[in-house]
Amino acid sequence: MCAFVKGEPSVRVSVVGLGYVGLVTSACLAEQGHDVVGIEVSSARIEALLDGRMPFHEPGLAELVQANREVGRLTFTADPAAISQADVVFVAVGTHDGNGGWQTRTIQSCLNDIVPRLADDAALVIRSTLPPWFLAHLPIIVGRMRQEAGLGEVPVLLNPEFTKEGTAVQDFLEPERVVLGIAHDVDGRGAARLRRLYRGMSAPILEMSATDAALSKLGANLFLATKISFANELAQLCDQYGGNVDQVVGAMAYDHRIGGAFLRAGIGFGGSCLPHQVTMTVATAAKSGLPTPLFAAVAEVNLRQRERMIDRLAGLLGGSVAGARIALLGVTFKPDTDDLRDAPSIHIATRLIEEGATVVAFDPMTNALERFAALVPGVRVASSVEIALDDADAAALVTEWGVFRQLDWVDAASRMRRAIMVDGRNALSVVELVDAGFAYASFGRGIRGQTDVPVTAPLVTAVEAEATGAPTSHETPAIDASATEGSPSERHRSGTSDLDLALTD
Ligand code: UGA
Repeated sequence: MCAFVKGEPSVRVSVVGLGYVGLVTSACLAEQGHDVVGIEVSSARIEALLDGRMPFHEPGLAELVQANREVGRLTFTADPAAISQADVVFVAVGTHDGNGGWQTRTIQSCLNDIVPRLADDAALVIRSTLPPWFLAHLPIIVGRMRQEAGLGEVPVLLNPEFTKEGTAVQDFLEPERVVLGIAHDVDGRGAARLRRLYRGMSAPILEMSATDAALSKLGANLFLATKISFANELAQLCDQYGGNVDQVVGAMAYDHRIGGAFLRAGIGFGGSCLPHQVTMTVATAAKSGLPTPLFAAVAEVNLRQRERMIDRLAGLLGGSVAGARIALLGVTFKPDTDDLRDAPSIHIATRLIEEGATVVAFDPMTNALERFAALVPGVRVASSVEIALDDADAAALVTEWGVFRQLDWVDAASRMRRAIMVDGRNALSVVELVDAGFAYASFGRGIRGQTDVPVTAPLVTAVEAEATGAPTSHETPAIDASATEGSPSERHRSGTSDLDLALTD
């Protein structure tokens, strides 16, 4: 828990780059009583912020920005000259290229702009996640820039962020640890400044080398990604042997060495951080001759999960998704964000359309849905979840928004041509869905509902099959489509739905 320390002078902070990381850092440091100037090259973004409009959805952020602007602790500008007034300058610009690789062009040009403007007693703090090989060059680059400008040395530190989209404000204000990495800080004044900045935090402040700080950030994300892929591999074993991954993980989680967090199986991880950091680590290590087979497998398992969603839908639809109308529930990479970066929905919808399905997507974030339509040629978007479900042959839950968890499943089944649900986030109640008449599949929890293969079907292993000539239980059993013909959904479907008019291509 952090607290505003009364009587202590505030630190003057500039934050360069007002994306997810920079804007949260700006608003939260202002909330802690510091004087913050947020600087951003995009004048459109600055205009929006000055106008009170948020550039993205992050719960609690708009309120924090507004409150701190009102009391004058937070201002925004496109003019980098503001940097010269700051005691601490944070850099929070993007460092990945959007295609699974690192890029340092943005941070280099940002350093060009800001380093010659830093006051002699200011500290430069990198908040962006940096490629490990760039770290060694960082103090040299900054030192050279200062020298060329005829200026003295400045401390250079790393202060990686561990916030999650959707809970970033709370994660910042109540951190589990604060990591300070020292890249260049001859007299220790840089670290002292940062300790003063974070004086209100009750979390431990860990000081280490810049390399250790960068690797502790990378390591945390690699471990989280590994946990998710581990859970997904475990879920496959559960499906194979007729187990239930919820029970299995639930029992494992009692072991304090394991814990239960980030072991939710499904279609895998997306977003701007975990997928890129795994693939960038594998690629960068390979370039220096270092194999990282575990991380390569983490990435491979993750991508496989997206394909398994297609397989599950095809299985329940009788072998193929071609010609089927599929309601895609959720497009953002997780709930409580409008972020579509590396969202599994993009891969899944694209592949379904390639396979001949009609995909009708809905997400509570209207602006994300609009961008999704531009990213996935041929997808249709619906203005409500009900419209997406109308006449669908199957539904695919991709993002576990609360609005989907709370749906009236009897009503949903009655709207659909066939009541089939593949729950890509293991977020729905099996019992509730099956009771509502759904054939329901998730990941590691078997196939339930209108199928003649019970989830606890006796396992026929490959070895036993070889011995007995029986089929193995590898494949997802296809349900008999005729079992749902003439269902309430069929009656509901009579006539053309005028709600279709609300669909946009
Ligand atoms: C991640 C880390 O969790 C943060 O600690 C880190 O600071 C941040 O990256 C970053 O480097 O900036 P974020 O990308 O916001 O945060 O999202 P996560 O909550 O980690 O979720 C990532 C993905 O994993 C989502 O698609 C989510 O649905 C999926 N996930 C999560 C699972 O599939 N299973 C789980 O058990 C948990």
